[in-house]
Amino acid sequence: MTDIVYYTASTLNGFLADASHSLDWLFSVDNAGAPDIAAFMDTTGVFVEGAATYEWVLRAENLMAEPRKWQQFYGDKPTYVFTSRKLPIPAGADVRLVNGPVTSALADIKAAAGDKDVWIVGGGDLAGQFLDAGALNELIISFAPAALTGGAPLLPRSVGPERLKLRSAQQHGQFAMLRYEVLATGGAA
Ligand SMILES: NC(=O)c1ccc[n+]([C@@H]2O[C@H](COP(=O)([O-])OP(=O)(O)OC[C@H]3O[C@@H](n4cnc5c(N)ncnc54)[C@H](OP(=O)(O)O)[C@@H]3O)[C@@H](O)[C@H]2O)c1
Repeated sequence: MTDIVYYTASTLNGFLADASHSLDWLFSVDNAGAPDIAAFMDTTGVFVEGAATYEWVLRAENLMAEPRKWQQFYGDKPTYVFTSRKLPIPAGADVRLVNGPVTSALADIKAAAGDKDVWIVGGGDLAGQFLDAGALNELIISFAPAALTGGAPLLPRSVGPERLKLRSAQQHGQFAMLRYEVLATGGAA
């Protein structure tokens, strides 16, 4: 069964990036023992990103000039990018630009994932759109020992314990990884 999983790193106070879309706060954390992304990649069939996240990846990795680096991370797995714009796509990358309600793209995204999971890479509002649509199954958040005064929010939604069930809490080096199952509205644990 395909699960839709929002997997990300966050500051302690719930930011993904600072107001300039910088991840310096994250890259300054000691990486020893950090969560193993490779293991998570193995369970992933499709990536889903918002435009700002996608544009950050293009910039940070210089992907328009060095498109082969795309495959090193994403392989041949499709990436759905939600955007209202015609964004550039690195040569050879399976990037699918989509616009509008997540429900319109949901069937395609799940079909593309096959028997693997969908990784919602970010940002927080996009994950929130999947939550709103009843289409988010799990949150896996690695909290880092850092805080910011503002920036891109982790999950800008009002959501309480009736929707979130803590399934595990693990230390990974300097990160605290929390896994929450997302319960259907009125769902039982
Ligand atoms: N800490 C981490 O591990 C981590 C993980 C992921 C991301 N990040 C960072 O966090 C920041 C996230 O940025 P963000 O909060 O602005 O979120 P984002 O989801 O990356 O980008 C938001 C943009 O996506 C487009 N969009 C979203 N929903 C849409 C929809 N339904 N239809 C069409 N377009 C849609 C819109 O852009 P347009 O309409 O202008 O195209 C919107 O302004 C980035 O800097 C990213 O690099 C960090």
